[in-house]
Amino acid sequence: MDAFREAIRTGRLAPGSRLPPSRVLATDLGLGRNTVVRVYSELINEGWLTALHGSGTEVSRRSSELPSGWSRPRPPAARPRWVHDLRPGFPDLSSFPRDEWVRAVKRTVTTSPFEAFGYIDPHGRGELRDAVARYLARARGVHAHADNVIVCSGAAQGLRLVAAVLVNAGVTKVAIEEFCLHTQRPALLKAGIEPVLLPVDADGADTSVLDDMPDVGAVLLTPSHQFPLGVALQSDRRAAVVDWARRRGALIIEDDYDGEFRYDRSPVGALQGLDHDRVIYMGTASKSLAPGLRLGWLVVPDRLVGPIVAEKGWAEDSVGFVNQLAMADFIDSGAYDRHIRAMRTRYRRRREQLIETVNRQSPATRIVGMSAGLQVLLEHPSRTGAELVRRATREQLAVESLDFFRNPDSTSDRDGLVVGFAAPSPSAWTGSLDALIRTLR
Ligand SMILES: Cc1ncc(COP(=O)(O)O)c(C=O)c1O
Repeated sequence: MDAFREAIRTGRLAPGSRLPPSRVLATDLGLGRNTVVRVYSELINEGWLTALHGSGTEVSRRSSELPSGWSRPRPPAARPRWVHDLRPGFPDLSSFPRDEWVRAVKRTVTTSPFEAFGYIDPHGRGELRDAVARYLARARGVHAHADNVIVCSGAAQGLRLVAAVLVNAGVTKVAIEEFCLHTQRPALLKAGIEPVLLPVDADGADTSVLDDMPDVGAVLLTPSHQFPLGVALQSDRRAAVVDWARRRGALIIEDDYDGEFRYDRSPVGALQGLDHDRVIYMGTASKSLAPGLRLGWLVVPDRLVGPIVAEKGWAEDSVGFVNQLAMADFIDSGAYDRHIRAMRTRYRRRREQLIETVNRQSPATRIVGMSAGLQVLLEHPSRTGAELVRRATREQLAVESLDFFRNPDSTSDRDGLVVGFAAPSPSAWTGSLDALIRTLR
């Protein structure tokens, strides 16, 4: 397609030139005829070619008037092609439960009332809010009523909505962990909030410093499994941060991105269970199922339901009804629990293999993080995270350095490599682990 555009742009194919019939060109180029038909029709849509009455296609007589860089919006530049993928934050997409999901989608499309095919209530479908409320109460100890659940397209949209509502309420500063998901600080800045940093140590975020931050109106935490350091917020600190929020009239935003995945014991309940009036719970199907579904949920105190739903409004992108209702069906049928149980077993095994292999093949490397989630932090005795990423690139291995998740102004001297062990398909796992070992050696 680009070759055609280039040929027209440079005049090699002059305006008015007749193009060969698609069947002939397909044979000449050894392509399927459908491919050629699709290319012709896209170039006709873009204005480069004209379909002639009767039959045939010619170079548009006005093609020379098209701006030289003109074409349909392109997808973002392709990422470098990695052979091995150990990026943190990705579940094993090859294990997506396609059959059960298709059954849920089929039931949804077959049985949904006509009304479901209309515009989507920004609060989210009642069926999904009910299912999520029951699931979170059972699996995460969340104090949840369907009225307090707001469906959003991933935790990312949830955070954006919460940030906007905080700004409207006069909040100017939000405390975040000094290492966190790289998109969270920009999301707050974009909303007009100044992020201030909480140090993170072996007991999780140091919430005691909040008392010395007078203007902070909320704190964003990953209490069940700090991202990316992999520690849990210790129980005294959990109690202390709730106490701080009550005294200050502040809010806690709990990012429970992988709370289902605890391997050494049953998952510790969400912080929200301690005070549902002070904690906004943020959950997602991005780790438990697939990020491409863009399915997430907030559980918010009564007084925030109206403002957050209003902020989302009818114009905001909503999760389509098929995904919402299929997810509700998926949870209610027990398929979600089954999938999580199966993935928990698989990820636990992978984490054990990773630890065993690193201990054996690169014994000086320290493995940090509790037995949970989809990632570990590796601290190498002599190489920085940045050096390790460069070495990994030579092995065609995708990983991130800890620096990638470090917020500016962090005074921590920690360094290392953040390795996600969930992303590879079962057949790619061993090869990925080997590439990691070559990187560490
Ligand atoms: C710490 C953290 N929070 C939240 C998310 C999920 O974001 P979303 O639901 O927007 O995909 C991720 C995904 O990478 C994450 O790592």
